[in-house]
Amino acid sequence: MKIVPVFLCFLLFLTFFLSSLSEHCNPQDKKVLLQIKKALNNPYLLASWDPKTDCCDWYCLECDLNTHRVIALTMFSDDRLTGQIPAEVGDLPYLETLIFRHLPNLNGTIQPSIVNLKNLKMLRLSWTNLSGSVPDFLSQLKNLTDLDLSFNNLSGSIPSSLSSLPNLDALHLDRNRLSGSIPESFGMFHGKVPDLFLSHNKLSGTIPASLGNMDFNTIDLSRNMLEGDASMLFGSNKTTWEIDLSRNMFQFNLSKVEFPKSLARLDLNHNKIMGSIPAGLTGVDLQFLNVSYNRLCGRIPVGGRLQSFDYSTYFHNRCLCGAPLEACK
Ligand SMILES: *[C@@H]1O[C@H](CO)[C@@H](O)[C@H](O)[C@H]1NC(C)=O
Ligand SMILES: *[C@@H]1O[C@H](CO)[C@@H](O)[C@H](O)[C@H]1NC(C)=O
Ligand SMILES: *[C@@H]1O[C@H](CO)[C@@H](O)[C@H](O)[C@H]1NC(C)=O
Ligand SMILES: *[C@@H]1O[C@H](CO)[C@@H](O)[C@H](O)[C@H]1NC(C)=O
Ligand SMILES: *[C@@H]1O[C@H](CO)[C@@H](O)[C@H](O)[C@H]1NC(C)=O
Ligand SMILES: *[C@@H]1O[C@H](CO)[C@@H](O)[C@H](O)[C@H]1NC(C)=O
Ligand SMILES: *[C@@H]1O[C@H](CO)[C@@H](O)[C@H](O)[C@H]1NC(C)=O
Repeated sequence: MKIVPVFLCFLLFLTFFLSSLSEHCNPQDKKVLLQIKKALNNPYLLASWDPKTDCCDWYCLECDLNTHRVIALTMFSDDRLTGQIPAEVGDLPYLETLIFRHLPNLNGTIQPSIVNLKNLKMLRLSWTNLSGSVPDFLSQLKNLTDLDLSFNNLSGSIPSSLSSLPNLDALHLDRNRLSGSIPESFGMFHGKVPDLFLSHNKLSGTIPASLGNMDFNTIDLSRNMLEGDASMLFGSNKTTWEIDLSRNMFQFNLSKVEFPKSLARLDLNHNKIMGSIPAGLTGVDLQFLNVSYNRLCGRIPVGGRLQSFDYSTYFHNRCLCGAPLEACK
């Protein structure tokens, strides 16, 4: 009978003992996090960042289970968060993930101290009001696999050094105000060939022939002011899944282009593409096709998926004919 209270007492002691040990958070990280909170004017998003509690329990971040160092900082969806990315983020040396997303009132430039985060794998600064240029120093973050700077207000040209990132799976620079041409170096990615998203910018000029050396899985150059030849992006040898060149000023002859068998999505609408649709396209298992608003001519080849698309896939060309358009004369 006496065993129960003793046991309870022991349990109580154990809980107390464990909770005193449970301040896992690294004191230096905690100090930096509180500085970040202060620099952002104590936003509601960080209300759980109470100095009296273990920072590894706070919202918007993640600690490593073994080292208890902060490895991820993720701030998103808060209209009230105003100001700039605090310089102190550069003092969280074990960060592998840094995300500032859907924060319309976050402004200023991309924080230079991010260069110190050598362990960073994922950097997502998107849907914010960040302006200024895409900094060259990002190429020093060799562990990056995912770089997403989309939906901001970034301007200037794309740094060619980004092609030296050896582990990049995806590069999102779409939906900004970037200008200039696509760097020659983007035909020489040193490691993996990343999915490339450059749409909705002000990129101009011809695309480098070297891009033809790359086997992109996805390349989206839509809604820019690019011109000239883009046929080097194709090739029967490649394993490309999606090519979107729509709404540019590309001008090349489609007749001799060979398509990767893997191609599922092809959007060429609103360019100055000429020639005819090659019969080879009937052998591609396309899920999506749009070649409208170009200068194509001749009979739409019969077969494959080509007749499964509606007329708007093909309309507004110079003289395309045959199903689903009108019969050829
Ligand atoms: C950021 O926004 C605030 C509030 O709208 C403004 O006062 C400040 O000048 C802006 N800073 C920059 C660098 O654009
Ligand atoms: C990449 O991260 C690993 C640890 O995850 C680290 O040892 C290495 O130094 C980093 N690479 C670079 C180039 O900083
Ligand atoms: C972004 O910042 C600019 C000035 O820096 C301001 O004019 C604009 O309204 C801001 N946009 C949003 C969505 O807050
Ligand atoms: C982008 O920045 C310019 C100049 O700072 C500003 O006038 C404009 O309102 C910004 N655009 C958006 C969508 O915030
Ligand atoms: C196809 O790939 C092989 C090996 O990767 C290469 O040698 C060949 O030149 C390529 N052919 C074309 C038409 O690109
Ligand atoms: C496109 O190439 C084909 C095949 O070489 C050729 O017959 C045709 O005249 C070319 N069309 C244009 C508009 O240059
Ligand atoms: C093709 O693009 C044109 C122009 O943007 C658009 O009007 C049409 O609806 C699109 N058709 C399909 C099937 O995507």
